[in-house]
Amino acid sequence: MYRREAIHVGRAYSAHTRVSVKSLASPPSLTIALSKGRICDQALPLLSAAGIEPLEDLNTSRKLRIDTTLDQVKLLVIRATDVPVFVGHGAADLGIVGKDTLLEYDGAGLYEPLDLGIARCRLMVAERADAPVAQMPSGRRLRIATKYERTAHRHYAAKGQQVEIIKLYGSMELAPLVGLADCIVDLVDTGSTLAANGLVAVEHIADVSSHLVVNQASMKMKHAAVTAIIGLLANAVNERDRTAA
Ligand code: ATP
Ligand code: PRP
Repeated sequence: MYRREAIHVGRAYSAHTRVSVKSLASPPSLTIALSKGRICDQALPLLSAAGIEPLEDLNTSRKLRIDTTLDQVKLLVIRATDVPVFVGHGAADLGIVGKDTLLEYDGAGLYEPLDLGIARCRLMVAERADAPVAQMPSGRRLRIATKYERTAHRHYAAKGQQVEIIKLYGSMELAPLVGLADCIVDLVDTGSTLAANGLVAVEHIADVSSHLVVNQASMKMKHAAVTAIIGLLANAVNERDRTAA
């Protein structure tokens, strides 16, 4: 268990905490949940810098629980929206998940100790460039298409505006074009999806990046191992940002 890597773990983390190599001598098993695609692609270099490399290609393997170069650390490959659910219920000890998904999650049981600064984008309100909401007849309730139901509700409630939320699971940008909604609440990165569909962003709701989340019970019960992983990933984030600066 951690045979080859125990010294590395202890050394790398020693700058941040008093966790010693000895405390990791018999570490408990740890699982880290993450999703395929964008988050996996951008998280893997950080995990690798932390000494955690999957022994199979996450994007192509049909296995959902993947061994890594750290004997006791396994990766769970799940849908992005399911990451807080697995971690909140303790089915995974740690997870990597977008702030957008965390804002939408209504469960408990999670700590959010580290912003990994990957998969950056913004959660925004967008509308048709040729049919601005400001020019719509007043008194009509706005229809908002989004997969971010709770976040959209909170956004409009804070403005004292009653709206109808239409829950979608993807392709939100289509909704205003076909008359399903007046606006959307969705993620914007380059803005090219909005532009390709004749939409413009009109309100900023939140900056989004992916965070490391930790099950609260795991933080207590597997404290040394969990804090070692947090420290290693924090080092990896700092090193990436230092070399990028
Ligand atoms: P699910 O499968 O659970 O519906 P998803 O299809 O939204 O999730 P992805 O498209 O891989 O999964 O997005 C995962 C996360 O990546 C999002 O929650 C968000 O934090 C971030 N993200 C999504 N789109 C972008 C983008 N265009 N640029 C940067 N980050 C993004
Ligand atoms: C995401 C998001 C937007 C798009 C924004 O979709 O839902 O549609 O990215 O990025 P842009 O501003 O750079 O165009 P994604 O590419 O993940 O496709 P999907 O969620 O519809 O599968």
